[in-house]
Amino acid sequence: MPHTLDPDGPIGVFDSGLGGLTVAAALAAHLPDERLIYLGDTARVPYGTRSPGTVVRYALTVADFLRARGIKLLVVACNTVSAHAIGELAEGQTVPVVGVIGPGARAALAASKGGDIAVLATPVTVTSNAYRRAIRRRSPGRAVHQIACPLLVPLAEEGWFDHPATRLVVQEYLAPLADTKVDTIILGCTHYPLLRETIRATVDALIGPHVALVDSATATAEDVGYTLDRHDLRRAGPAIAPQICLTDRPRRAAEVAARFWGGPALPPMEHVDLQDQTSRDKT
Ligand code: DGL
Repeated sequence: MPHTLDPDGPIGVFDSGLGGLTVAAALAAHLPDERLIYLGDTARVPYGTRSPGTVVRYALTVADFLRARGIKLLVVACNTVSAHAIGELAEGQTVPVVGVIGPGARAALAASKGGDIAVLATPVTVTSNAYRRAIRRRSPGRAVHQIACPLLVPLAEEGWFDHPATRLVVQEYLAPLADTKVDTIILGCTHYPLLRETIRATVDALIGPHVALVDSATATAEDVGYTLDRHDLRRAGPAIAPQICLTDRPRRAAEVAARFWGGPALPPMEHVDLQDQTSRDKT
């Protein structure tokens, strides 16, 4: 890793859309002195139902964009990209890269009392087996159940957190876990933490209240802190509002972004073009 990285530079946070703001919020809470630049590829979301090759191609263009903005570290907040493209991203980067799969697996093993672990994720994340591998690397032979839940992304974006349709869909997806020894469930997608209450209620009824629900956000923020320390890249402050860049202005972008961010008001969002890498206007 070159020694030319600037500790005052921003941390780049990348997601296929707005869901990664759940990870950005955890970063802002854990590392309040750091500058964040968030890129949501809203023009091409969802990634979770695309082929792995397309996910890699999209990820490399986003990484180029953030690198051109002078980032000192790249956080891949998207589970789908972390599952399929983390190797390619790390290869091409001159900055440290932190994904969400390893931290999520670590959080699950910390919460588990030795039972089975279930992973709820996009179809492409499930196909990659990345969570299963990350868990078994740390706990060989552990039973890991993976369930693709593609309908949960649009339901979360629609704000249907506690809606009969969401409850029905969650029950359908979780039904295969009824006769398992699952004691921990990973919410392995940026959007699922918003549906936590509905998932919790379904899990309580289906398996029991002893089952822990974990997501990657806090564990990822901790990993970023360790990585900054390792490379001597901590920023001294003062705090600066995050910069949010989107490749398209989806309907109700500000409202949906506020849901995922969950904290104080977000600054205006920039509309950017990954082709010419220029900032065009503000939403
Ligand atoms: N950000 C994606 C993930 O965490 C979910 C949305 C999508 O499918 O692009 O896997």
